[in-house]
Amino acid sequence: MRLILVGPPGAGKGTQAVHLASHFGIPHISTGDIFRANLKGGTELGILAQSYMDKGDLVPDSVTNEMVKDRLNNPDVANGFLLDGFPRNVFQAEVLRAILAEKQTPLDAVLELAIDDKEIISRISGRRTCKNCGTSFHLVNSAPVISDTCDNCQGELYQREDDKEEVVTRRLEVYAEQTKPIIAFYRSEGLLISITATGEVSEISQRAIAALSAVIS
Ligand code: AP5
Repeated sequence: MRLILVGPPGAGKGTQAVHLASHFGIPHISTGDIFRANLKGGTELGILAQSYMDKGDLVPDSVTNEMVKDRLNNPDVANGFLLDGFPRNVFQAEVLRAILAEKQTPLDAVLELAIDDKEIISRISGRRTCKNCGTSFHLVNSAPVISDTCDNCQGELYQREDDKEEVVTRRLEVYAEQTKPIIAFYRSEGLLISITATGEVSEISQRAIAALSAVIS
């Protein structure tokens, strides 16, 4: 299963990716998580990425495309992968198509998580992320057992810099202008599956697995 998850900021891509990657036995590759891990490690890539992420802008294609190309050379993608947060514009989608064509490993599906702006704002404003392992919680919808503490690793929870209101507004603009066009791109390639991303997390996972299983059977 070679799969892309697409949807606006806060649609639940990271949350669903964990379930789908486990169900299909494939690695979850999140470009946002890779940038955040580099930022935490103080690498050159992390410092560069931060200057764009903190404003809600996309990290330049030249940097992101090379990073994903490298990641897709890792042996763990032999049986497939789930890309979350990449591609994020039509140029990245074209570069990905070329990378996969060279490997003769085309995509199986692109799953769109469809959600309205009101729900996005509520999800993002309540999100708290573990500083240590990156797991997302929500103050109301999936609160940690101990306040401000990760259930998985006991790490400290924090609010992402790019989850502040003014940055979220910019991220939504960037999604509408640059990322949304990839939905038409993949629809024209016959790869797009769209599901409603509201409801319980488990309900959405079941919806996604049913839709994807129909594609690969
Ligand atoms: P990235 O980390 O990819 O952010 P994003 O796409 O904006 O997505 P989010 O992480 O905000 O949300 P999500 O859809 O994963 O939702 P989640 O599951 O956490 O990218 C960050 C930045 O990195 C970009 O702005 C850019 O600068 C840079 N970048 C990344 N990729 C790039 C690329 N390809 N090119 C260039 N730059 C790139 O859920 C959100 C909240 O809702 C959580 O609190 C969760 O608990 C809750 N929740 C989830 N599901 C439900 C549900 N069903 N009901 C109620 N609450 C729910």
